[in-house]
Amino acid sequence: MKRLINGKNLIFLCSLPVIAITSLLVFQTIDLLSGLRSGISFTAQYSLVLFGIVFIASSLQLFSKNQFTIWIRKNRRYLGLSFAASHLVHGLAIFVLYLNYEDVFQQTVSPLSKIFGGIGFFVIFVLAMTSSDYAIKKIGFRRWKNIQRFGMYYIWFIFLASYLPRAINSPEYWPLVLFLVSCLGLRFLFHNATVTNN
Ligand code: HEM
Repeated sequence: MKRLINGKNLIFLCSLPVIAITSLLVFQTIDLLSGLRSGISFTAQYSLVLFGIVFIASSLQLFSKNQFTIWIRKNRRYLGLSFAASHLVHGLAIFVLYLNYEDVFQQTVSPLSKIFGGIGFFVIFVLAMTSSDYAIKKIGFRRWKNIQRFGMYYIWFIFLASYLPRAINSPEYWPLVLFLVSCLGLRFLFHNATVTNN
């Protein structure tokens, strides 16, 4: 059991539900378009949770050092790769939407979203490709850290830019915006605390 919830196995464990639930949403709905929309929405939320955990992994330990926060910190890399896998499913669902309903795709995604979202996928790819001890050695720790930090803030920004306009029109999105803002707040608190302590 311990092996299953640690290390590389975690990627498999976290990816299985997102693949299964998204497939169910997409293929078990009579109308493919609403199935795809539910799938895109679900994968975005699933990714958000994984992303949020990775984003605050270090900060959490500062506030409470227990088995759970230690586990998160230890498995941060694998949770990050699980986020990348989940967002790959988001990308695939979008691609299916584009293939089947190009007009809907063009109406819902503005040119700006395509550019910034596209860069977002590239950033996720770079983060995933550099998630190894080998990459840290090759790039150097400081540069690696800067790439990771920039990438994480960029993805945070894309999530906010996606959810905030939706929240203004549909209140059910506000908890997701609040979650994002809280994660950022916690990171800043952690940063300030470590700067003050040093
Ligand atoms: C880091 C990259 C990205 C992130 C973090 C992201 C995040 C999100 C989020 C949070 C939603 C809202 C889901 C909901 O309505 O519940 C969404 C929806 C969507 N995204 Fe992405 N996205 C990214 C990249 C992209 C790209 C590159 C495209 C297409 C070129 C895209 C197309 C869509 C579409 C079509 C929807 C559904 C819109 C709708 O039905 O209202 N996304 N995305």
